[in-house]
Amino acid sequence: MAPPLISPSILSADFSRLGEEVRAIDAAGADWIHVDVMDGHFVPNITIGPMVVKALRPHTTKPFDVHLMISPVDSYLEAFAEAGADIITIHPEAGPHAHRTVQAISALGKKAGISLNPATPAKMLDYLIEEIDLVLIMSVNPGFGGQSFIDSQLRKIEAVRKMIDKTGKDIRLEVDGGVDRRTAPMCVDAGADVLVAGTATFKGGSSYYADNIAALKGLVPHG
Ligand code: DX5
Ligand code: ZN
Repeated sequence: MAPPLISPSILSADFSRLGEEVRAIDAAGADWIHVDVMDGHFVPNITIGPMVVKALRPHTTKPFDVHLMISPVDSYLEAFAEAGADIITIHPEAGPHAHRTVQAISALGKKAGISLNPATPAKMLDYLIEEIDLVLIMSVNPGFGGQSFIDSQLRKIEAVRKMIDKTGKDIRLEVDGGVDRRTAPMCVDAGADVLVAGTATFKGGSSYYADNIAALKGLVPHG
């Protein structure tokens, strides 16, 4: 099985040195850069907006995997697209018309993702899956880094893997929250091919980033 792509969440980076941190994870083998956007309304935390995405864009050529935890969301899609997002993922609960939101992301020339909260069933994807490029399974409730992995989400990863395979389309299956050296192989076995990791990437400081990312890919023994 090919190793999963790793998308480090910069939520766990040193915010006073974000550009440097993005360069460091790029050099350490990050495949994508996961950007958690929170509004203090859809989730109980406030993080960063399009201006920060734009400021970080020159620091890496890796894809920006932008996870929007904001409501409303439609009115901000263009700003994130222009700021340099490559993948834009939304939560269907963030607005009344998820299908239209996905169409809007695609019309901006960006890859569209749908994120499922821990309590949101895989069934939510029934009439969206043909339209999207990525499914993001939340294995914690969105809002904060450093939470514990919710084991019940493994079943959902398995179910969504089947749905994706049935479409025959190139749709990525990403897992976000509490992914570490212990849970990463569980996610991959269940069918994930992209892993978000905040705490587990940034743990120990920049001299550990490469080892941390390699361990999440399963390229070094667990420990
Ligand atoms: C949570 C965010 C996650 C979070 C992951 O709302 O979507 O991306 O930063 O952090 P860890 O890897 O520390 O659980
Ligand atoms: Zn995220």
